[in-house]
Amino acid sequence: MSDLYERAPERGPGIRLHLNENTAGCSAAVLEAMRAVTAPEAAAYPEYGATYRSCAVWLGIRDDQLLLTNGLDEGIYTAAVAWLQRNANGEPAEAVVVEPAYALFAASAAVTGARVVHVGPRPDFDFPLEETLAAITPVTRVVFVASPANPSGLLVPAAAIRAVADRLPARAVLFLDEAYVEFASTSFLSDLRSHPNVVLGRTFAKAFGLAAVRAGYLVAAAPLIEQLRSVVLPFSVNVFALAAIRCAVQDAAYVSWYVAQVAESRRRIYAACERLGCAYWTSEANFVLVRVGAGAAALVETLAARGIYVRDRSSMAGCAGCIRITAGLVEHTEACIAALEDTCARA
Ligand SMILES: Cc1ncc(COP(=O)(O)O)c(C=O)c1O
Repeated sequence: MSDLYERAPERGPGIRLHLNENTAGCSAAVLEAMRAVTAPEAAAYPEYGATYRSCAVWLGIRDDQLLLTNGLDEGIYTAAVAWLQRNANGEPAEAVVVEPAYALFAASAAVTGARVVHVGPRPDFDFPLEETLAAITPVTRVVFVASPANPSGLLVPAAAIRAVADRLPARAVLFLDEAYVEFASTSFLSDLRSHPNVVLGRTFAKAFGLAAVRAGYLVAAAPLIEQLRSVVLPFSVNVFALAAIRCAVQDAAYVSWYVAQVAESRRRIYAACERLGCAYWTSEANFVLVRVGAGAAALVETLAARGIYVRDRSSMAGCAGCIRITAGLVEHTEACIAALEDTCARA
């Protein structure tokens, strides 16, 4: 699993713009909440009730529509384990993955022995609706889609999400990954009621700066959450994550401030791309995909030698010549742009 995984090689100190992390760190209040965990609390198996209640109120849902997970990765993996088992005849189930996609979708599906059906990208990453519908068969059990998508940063139109959900066979689900939703203009959350076969995946890793704490959640109709609960490990979310989550959902000012930093960073990356003559995609996430051309891998290493880490995405479907730059604090973006412009001027 780890070699298929999104994680890049360890980079050490520097400006980390390669994993779509929050480059400001979590809020001071959230850090304090984790520090306030007591020795007896650390010694006890965690109790989840209070955190479920505050999270459910924050989202405007019932507790039984929510599953807290050890990062969204655990949510993806749990969905695969719950729904991609072989059928009664021993035939493998199918998972549909719309590419280019977060690597853990296909990796989790593969672990279960499911057949993974990849839907290739259209030019400019327009959502391939007809191709996705055509990939659905009677043995499809999960369709994985991300909106905003990683690495393009593009939203999937709500009408397309509804069309895919409406086409699924009875026992199948649409897993809609909204890891970057706080940076985006829309969410599918309010459509869940009318689409009870959609599972939303979210995380506190990105907008809330809690990637290392491993805190994510799934939202879905109660019967689906019940099925997920039957396979997820007990106590997979630890007491520090619970303290962080309870505080984070009260901390709207921090998220608004950080989302504004990301929006400004995206604008500055677009402006730099225009100066450099590089194509880019207008992003609804905390990163921008930029087509730098054949030298993408070399450029990533040149920037890394200067302590600025961005991600080579050129081997992903439809992404030839592309790098992905995390948009975080404006000062980090500026340092990246300066290094990028200097490197291109020397080339
Ligand atoms: C689309 C997508 N989903 C899920 C994740 C993982 O989230 P977490 O760190 O909460 O496991 C990422 C991380 O980069 C991602 O890009």
